Amino acid sequence: MKLDRSSLVEDSFLGLGTTCLESRRLGIPSCGYELNPFAFRIARARVAWNFDEEDMETELSRLGNSVPVQSVPASFARWFPPGDLTPKEILAIGEGAKQIVNRDLRDFLLAATLLCLRRQALAKIGSNPAWIRIAEKLDRRRPKFYNALRAKSHDMFADQLQIRGDIRTPVKIHEGDILAAQPDGKVSAIISSPPYLSRLDYVMAYRIENDFLATLHFAPSPEELRSKLVGGVIKKRESTNLKPREEWGSLSNEILGQVKDHKSKASKDYYYPLMLSYFDGIYRWLERSWASLTKAGAAVIVVQSSYYKDIPIPLPSILVQAANNAAFKRTRVLHRSIVKDHIGKIDPDQRAHASDKVLWEEVLEFRKA
Ligand SMILES: C[S@@+](CC[C@H](N)C(=O)[O-])C[C@H]1O[C@@H](n2cnc3c(N)ncnc32)[C@H](O)[C@@H]1O
Repeated sequence: MKLDRSSLVEDSFLGLGTTCLESRRLGIPSCGYELNPFAFRIARARVAWNFDEEDMETELSRLGNSVPVQSVPASFARWFPPGDLTPKEILAIGEGAKQIVNRDLRDFLLAATLLCLRRQALAKIGSNPAWIRIAEKLDRRRPKFYNALRAKSHDMFADQLQIRGDIRTPVKIHEGDILAAQPDGKVSAIISSPPYLSRLDYVMAYRIENDFLATLHFAPSPEELRSKLVGGVIKKRESTNLKPREEWGSLSNEILGQVKDHKSKASKDYYYPLMLSYFDGIYRWLERSWASLTKAGAAVIVVQSSYYKDIPIPLPSILVQAANNAAFKRTRVLHRSIVKDHIGKIDPDQRAHASDKVLWEEVLEFRKA
């Protein structure tokens, strides 16, 4: 497929915005969707550039004069050791960012703040990236937050000058649930890496950052967002409404059956509903993708296989079956490679079963007609 200035590329699961950034470097207009507020702000900082260095300096100086807030809500304070004044300073900077009229600059400085947070919170990340341990004592060598923010902003600015491409090529990115966005039939290509069927919870993996954004009302609460993630945690009551559907394909239905009957304790009550929600979300996304594409359009997607305990999950083949059922006409594998580092090696639940297994990644192409 040939893409040019008159095309539109969509990344439905934007992550940190690489697809849009690359599209712009090639002069191709693009759009993207991302539910995780942390990832969305970082993506914004990488693609939205309606300001110069002097504007950044002016706002940074203003933020440097922020007066620490009086009190810190428990949802954010919990990430810092007792007695630490830093969260008051950080929230003051966040409040100050709200006053910045230029949205690109505001999001750029918010992204720089987010990227400095974890070091300041003194959190340690466990072997599973979703586990965070909080230090009990203050680290006296930790740089003052504002100084860290200044340095980070300058580094980011210098980096972006190298990679940003021609900023006249349009990029429009949206914060929120792709499944809630109406398809419009104008997208030439969907290039995306949807969540894999693993237990990685994108919102919780960045919960310090997402609690910061929620505290300042820049984002909904992490709990609300988790229920909208493709493969996200669903409430018990809702889960009873979801049932396996034939359209998802025979492979996913077989796996659902195996998980439901699995002897381990949490399988039926927790992982089975989680997988139902995943297949439901991914199928609705395929239907939406079909409707968003122009007649000559195609979706090119990257997915990896995984394991649930001893049950192999050949996600690329599952998606091919589902795409055929969602009315895509020609589906093919463009590339296949072995994955050396995968979640099965770091997630203790999967480690026992998957650490010696070979997982693979496939680039798939689904054509609309
Ligand atoms: C595999 S990651 C994307 C990785 C991306 N290609 C990259 O390299 O950074 C999947 C992304 O989908 C996002 N996501 C999950 N459910 C979503 C939804 N319903 N709407 C929009 N984004 C969602 C997650 O927050 C995560 O960032």
